[in-house]
Amino acid sequence: MGERVVVRYLLPPGSEAGATDVLGTLRSRDEQSLVVESAFGSVTIPRRSVVAAKDVPPPPSRAGPAHKRVGVDDLEALMATGWVALEQSRLGSWLLRSTPGFTGRANSALPLGDPTLPLGRAVDFVEKWYRERGQDPMFQLPGPVGFDPADTQVGAHLLGRRYTVRGGHAPGRHVQVMTAPLGALPPLTEQSPPVLGDARLQPEWLIAYGESRTVVPGVTERVLTGGRGQLFMSVKDETTGRTVGIARMAIHPGWAGIFGLWVRPGHRRRGIATAVVSAIGMAARDNNMLALYIQVSSENAGGIAFWEGLDFTRHHDYLYLAPAES
Ligand SMILES: CC(C)(COP(=O)(O)OP(=O)(O)OC[C@H]1O[C@@H](n2cnc3c(N)ncnc32)[C@H](O)[C@@H]1OP(=O)(O)O)[C@@H](O)C(=O)NCCC(=O)NCCS
Repeated sequence: MGERVVVRYLLPPGSEAGATDVLGTLRSRDEQSLVVESAFGSVTIPRRSVVAAKDVPPPPSRAGPAHKRVGVDDLEALMATGWVALEQSRLGSWLLRSTPGFTGRANSALPLGDPTLPLGRAVDFVEKWYRERGQDPMFQLPGPVGFDPADTQVGAHLLGRRYTVRGGHAPGRHVQVMTAPLGALPPLTEQSPPVLGDARLQPEWLIAYGESRTVVPGVTERVLTGGRGQLFMSVKDETTGRTVGIARMAIHPGWAGIFGLWVRPGHRRRGIATAVVSAIGMAARDNNMLALYIQVSSENAGGIAFWEGLDFTRHHDYLYLAPAES
């Protein structure tokens, strides 16, 4: 759900053409029908008429290589399918997400495009949705690099309702979304430590992840494994067998996402993270992907230096906004 798809389906008997294609976002799916939101409106397709369906990469919104030409909203929509909350709901094309105690992304509303209500009523709806779940509302607001939320329509509205940027207005509050072309990644070399890739989430991987951030047992596992496809990469210390480096690769049509890259402090600056990313690059090549994305806090100077060294550039930013009293 929420993925960009192309669906070929049979037209009713007597139609001039036998079949047609629709390209758009998959909005709902049940035993009877699919609903695809296309540029020309919503199309409901009976299941029995579907000939073929395929997910496709986001469309280009400007000239340039794949990792630069994607639009902010399209990349945000794609990334949201790589980190899926336990409970998700839609208000038009806004996405509402809730997950007990685990990550801002999985506990915030993503206001992309048209909520199908006037802005004030749409925000009322979001606030009610979160309050019904015992949570304070929070918005994940995307915008251009270094943007001021007051310069966006939704941001200005939220600030007018006494929302503030979570953690204050320091420039460091921006989360940077960085992208790179697949070709930029270095190949694995003979000196690279062996990198294991596993489609299943193994206990050792989860233990290492739990050392890098706060996890919520029973919840974190479901978010980590909740995308359409993911690979869990790890590097083990050759002497102790202990996991010393990890990352999660999210698999999308045409794109790969990298989440949770972490190297145990005593093992840093030995090329482990580079090897993990190179291994992700190999898996991405096997899956015909062209571009990669990562998300990194502006406060994480070391992380940014690492990504810049691999030719990742800042595509856009996002900020979290929540009511001032929360
Ligand atoms: C960022 C991180 C994953 C790097 O892991 P690593 O195994 O030490 O990285 P590598 O050894 O492959 O580093 C390759 C190059 O990246 C750059 N780099 C890595 N860490 C850096 C740092 N802290 N400061 C500046 N540059 C850094 C250097 O150019 C380095 O090459 P060099 O050691 O020859 O100078 C690791 O520091 C870490 O786990 N940090 C905490 C979690 C994190 O920030 N994750 C990424 C955020 S999305």
